[in-house]
Amino acid sequence: MALQNDELSKELLDSQAHIWNHVFSFINSMSLKCAVELHIPDIINRHGSSMLLSELVKALGLKHERTHFVYRLMRILVHSGFFVKQSAGNDDVEEEGYLLAPASRLLIKNEPLNVRPYLLAMLDPMLLDPWQHMSEWFQKDDVNPLYTTHGRMFWDLASHEPKLNELFNGAMASEARLVASVILKHCRGVFEGLDSIVDVGGGIGTLTKAIVEGFPDIKCICFDLPHVVNGLVGSKNLSYVGGDMFQAIPTAHAVLLKWILHDWNDEECMKILKKCKEAIPSRENGGKLIIIDMVVKAHEGEHELLKTQLFFDMLMMTTLTGRERSEDDWAKLFLDVGFSDYKINPILGLRSLIEVYP
Ligand SMILES: C[S@@+](CC[C@H](N)C(=O)[O-])C[C@H]1O[C@@H](n2cnc3c(N)ncnc32)[C@H](O)[C@@H]1O
Repeated sequence: MALQNDELSKELLDSQAHIWNHVFSFINSMSLKCAVELHIPDIINRHGSSMLLSELVKALGLKHERTHFVYRLMRILVHSGFFVKQSAGNDDVEEEGYLLAPASRLLIKNEPLNVRPYLLAMLDPMLLDPWQHMSEWFQKDDVNPLYTTHGRMFWDLASHEPKLNELFNGAMASEARLVASVILKHCRGVFEGLDSIVDVGGGIGTLTKAIVEGFPDIKCICFDLPHVVNGLVGSKNLSYVGGDMFQAIPTAHAVLLKWILHDWNDEECMKILKKCKEAIPSRENGGKLIIIDMVVKAHEGEHELLKTQLFFDMLMMTTLTGRERSEDDWAKLFLDVGFSDYKINPILGLRSLIEVYP
């Protein structure tokens, strides 16, 4: 009986800890945001070797009395794997040193593939506020919690809020740089033989530019909403076109859709895919779609990867009308629009590169 009571108490306390971990998960995001806003990864990187806490406090321009607060911020970020602690072997925390862990190299401002703008955009209050309204939204007929919060759909909001527009486009550009570096190294075959590509919803053209540089024989169009591409200047093989993909898409040998379809529900995706199909030649003439998006459960058994995909699915539900899709969901969409076949290559970590043929 005593044993049973012990087990019940353990279960009770474990459940409490499990709930606390979820209640306070936001502290991970906010601590990381704070470190990035204070430029801690840049400062430690510039230092070039293990940086003592006392040196870090000085480099941050903070008063000595703030040392213990910086120590506590660094302690949680060491715990979550962003920095590595170098212990001085004594109890003096000021003698404790920090190095960058691999993930924080991606938070250094001068690192070409840094994802800093993405982190700062996703944790901006405008994009965090809708999470406070999720349960309210469930009980209403609004399209998503972002609408319940801001009274507009996301793309409309971005066109009316220059700061959000800039933050979001910068975030997407930083993300696209990273993906472009992988694609151009490992997926060159996908682009070979094409003479033109239209990058639909291509943002400010980061991936499009990388393709033009990597494949000088391919002519590229970066197609996006007018408020995104207005004023952007192309080059010999790159042009910017403003428009609405639900109305018409410029014709090309292939259509690229990076992180577009997960923004939209199935009905909207079918409309976009129909316009894409109209924009490309037949399969015999080399026409195809190149989609970069998640395929949920593409990484069977990898719990952490699935968790991140579920985060994105919730993000799509909260800010847009879309969702993350399984292979069966994708297959249904492609076949319903009249595409004949598809090929999924899970080469991009959490995302896959999907080729779809007319
Ligand atoms: C999630 S972002 C992806 C941007 C870029 N493809 C990338 O992955 O870096 C979605 C893009 O779709 C664009 N977009 C939204 N509605 C659109 C529409 N009706 N027509 C064309 N582009 C649209 C947005 O402006 C935005 O740039």
